[in-house]
Parts: sequence; structure tokens; C-alpha cells
Amino acid sequence: MLTRLPALTDVHVHLREPGATHKEDWGSGTAAALAGGITTVLAMPNTNPAINSSAALTEGLALAAAKSRCDYALFLGGGAANAAGAAAAAQDAAGLKLYLDQTYGDLKLDDMRDWQPHFAAWPHAWPLCAHAEGKTMAAAILLSALHDRPLHICHVSTAEEIALIRAAKERGLKITCEVCPHHLFLCEDDIPSLGAGRAEVRPRLASKADQQALWDNLDIIDCFASDHAPHTLEEKDGQNPPPGYPGLETMLPLLLTAAAEGRLMLDDIIARLHTNPTRIFRLPPQSETYTEVDLNAKYEIRAAEGQTRCGWTPFEGWQVRGRVINVVLRGQPAYRDGRLLAAPGSGRNIRNHTGGQNDA
Ligand code: NCD
Ligand code: ZN
Ligand code: ZN
Ligand code: ZN
Repeated sequence: MLTRLPALTDVHVHLREPGATHKEDWGSGTAAALAGGITTVLAMPNTNPAINSSAALTEGLALAAAKSRCDYALFLGGGAANAAGAAAAAQDAAGLKLYLDQTYGDLKLDDMRDWQPHFAAWPHAWPLCAHAEGKTMAAAILLSALHDRPLHICHVSTAEEIALIRAAKERGLKITCEVCPHHLFLCEDDIPSLGAGRAEVRPRLASKADQQALWDNLDIIDCFASDHAPHTLEEKDGQNPPPGYPGLETMLPLLLTAAAEGRLMLDDIIARLHTNPTRIFRLPPQSETYTEVDLNAKYEIRAAEGQTRCGWTPFEGWQVRGRVINVVLRGQPAYRDGRLLAAPGSGRNIRNHTGGQNDA
């Protein structure tokens, strides 16, 4: 028997095009999305070059339009001098992403005076996301309060952070947040078996107590997001291992396994991959779009069977229960029984207001 889930969105993925298509591109990344039961991806701007202007956004969207197999939108990256330009292009973007701590890419904003113009200029009703860890997160939440505007915190990973977000929400601040499966299912104790290079990720794998705190505070976690951050095995095992894990294909099976174990409910998953992403990121409805899963199917995660180009997963060999069987995108079969059916270019830009080439 199959269980039907509504259209699922991954609000935080890296698809590496332009600039690093040996890691992933719009075709392989959205194939991974469909295989993972995801029908919309919101892609991050830390590409090479970065998506930090209206022109770069247009170019990035053209690459996506040519190859994407699922629906998508692309974030703009906040820079030290692009607040007005970014705001002018807001309606065409998934949202604005601010990198406030060091991570992969060159979009980090050091000086808080460079954050302020974005909090002021970016339309207050449009999504604003931040990579902001620990005390940086506290500073970002303060700016959100000063500007009385919503802020979505990416990949929360520690007890300290989740406590701060709870306090901010209780105070009525317009804060939302996401947690990634790797912070729910892995912790620093797993670093030796993963290997130091492969284990590199930002935010880093945290302590067992931090991991437990995420589970204990599920009620204030708005979204699950994979932070699908593909880097090749060669890079992960090399001299300067870049941070990041692939996650699009493993997020739903891992969460369904937790549901089978009674650690959360199916409705908790639907809220965090459908209902809340739709509200927070102002996603249009995807009619006739759904994912069917077999909640009882058990299988072993194997990178060799994956669609992502990066060729590895931190969950290699894990036994999961809950398999994606069938994905339908806007009435069209997109993925079924391990076969990819959606053609490159069949995905639609969800921020396309004019009715573009992919509109029926
Ligand atoms: C991400 C990447 O590789 O683009 N890496 C990561 O470790 N999460 C960047 C990011 O999301 O911070
Ligand atoms: Zn990040
Ligand atoms: Zn990321
Ligand atoms: Zn709905």
C-alpha cells in the first residue's frame, strides 16, 4: 500500500551550476530531488560566480530552465554593496540569503554594517534567510527585531541555538528555522567512522546533547531541509576537504524511518516539508503534485544507486524504512519505481510571474 504525501519542498539545496558542475548540475541535482520525493527545490546562491545581481540571477535561472526536472527557485546572495539591486530583483528570487559565518563560497559578510542595508531594503514580506551560527545568530535575530521583519535561520544545529530561537519565538519575534537530517541523525561521535574529511560540514556535527536538543525541540522547528551540498568523494578525501553533505535523496527516507520508530509523526514531516515551507517561502500551489511512499519498504542506502553526481553519502549502509515509489509533478509522471521519468527542462520556475516557456 502506498501513502500519498503532498508536494514536498526542500528549501535549502546547492546545485553547483554555474561553476562546479563536476559536483552537481541542475539536471543531476533535480534528479536527486525527485528520487528523494522532493518536487520543488530552493537553490542557494553560493555558486561560481555567485548569484549576487539581477544579471547573475537571470543567467542562473536560464541554466535551471534548461535542465531542471523539478520545480525550483533561486536565492540571491547578499553582498556588501548590492542591497538596493538585490531588493529590486526580489520578486524573481526564492529569497535573499545572507552568509554571516564562514562556509563554502565567497559570500560571507563580516561587518554588521553590511547586514543592515539588507534587513532594511529587502521586501519585508519576502523570504530572508541567514547562515548564522551561535552568537552570530543572536546578532541576526537582533537585526530582525530592530527592523521588525521575518528572518529564517538555516540549519540550526545546537542546543544553545534552539534555546535562543525558542526564546525569540516566545517573545513574538518573526523568526523561523530549519533543521537538517544530518544534524538530527549524526553527531560528532560519528566523525571517526565517517572520516575527518567526509565529516566536514557547516555547521559542524555537534555533540550528542546538541543532537538530542533538536529532537526535544521539534515543536519550534518549522522546516526540514537537506542542505544538499554535494562535493565529490575525491574532494572530500583530498587535502582541503570542502564542507557539505549530499542529502536530497536521503532526507525523506531517514525521516520516514524515524516516523516508523515513533520518534515523530508523519504529520510532523508533512508540516515541515510542505505546509510550513509553503507559508514561509510563499510558494504557489503545485496542483496534481504528490509523492507516494511505501512506509513499510526497507532498504539500504547506497551511494552507488543515487542520482547525485557527487558519488557518496554520509549515510552509506544505513537501513531505512520508507521508500519513495512514485512522484507526480503537475500531473506528469516524474519518478516511478527507481526510474527517472521527468525530462531535463520540465521543471518550472515557481517565481515566474509572466508565464514562461514551461507554462502549459
Ligand atoms: C555548503 C556548501 O557546500 O555550499 N556547505 C555546508 O557545509 N553546509 C554551504 C552552507 O550551506 O553553509
Ligand atoms: Zn550554510
Ligand atoms: Zn547550505
Ligand atoms: Zn497544502
